[in-house]
Amino acid sequence: MCDYCGCREVGVIGELSDDHELLMDLVARIRREIGRDRAGTASALSELQSRLRLHLEREEEGIFVQLAAEPGFDAYLADLEGDHRSAREGLLSLEARSELSEAEVVGGLEELEAHITREEQDLFPACRMVLSAEAFAEARLAHDRIAARESGNEMAASS
Ligand SMILES: [Fe+2]
Ligand SMILES: [Fe+2]
Repeated sequence: MCDYCGCREVGVIGELSDDHELLMDLVARIRREIGRDRAGTASALSELQSRLRLHLEREEEGIFVQLAAEPGFDAYLADLEGDHRSAREGLLSLEARSELSEAEVVGGLEELEAHITREEQDLFPACRMVLSAEAFAEARLAHDRIAARESGNEMAASS
């Protein structure tokens, strides 16, 4: 890793982009299963929920914090944070194992897809243009902190 070739940036944005790809695969899986296979839908939804939870934290504690330090992004970030809030109140609050409302799930998936598209087409290019190597390094540390927190949680849950 260095400060010259953009590899730090590729690390952070690349990781978030990989999350998006995985989330979109799960969205497609849920769409295939819903109304057809209850157990399959529940397991895909709970996997989506745990990956999405972590992904939102990475963005909020990483690039969102870094972008907030730049002028002119307040309204833009408030909007994206609003999307995160509705994901938490929607998709993430659904009890995967209970009776699911198809309309609620499908509505949540549509919102998530629109949010991901916006981040890929708009937020990530903006980050590449605006954020410094130092800002990306800070975001990298945030991702690492979240990973450490998560593995601590998993160890606590399994002990
Ligand atoms: Fe997001
Ligand atoms: Fe995202």
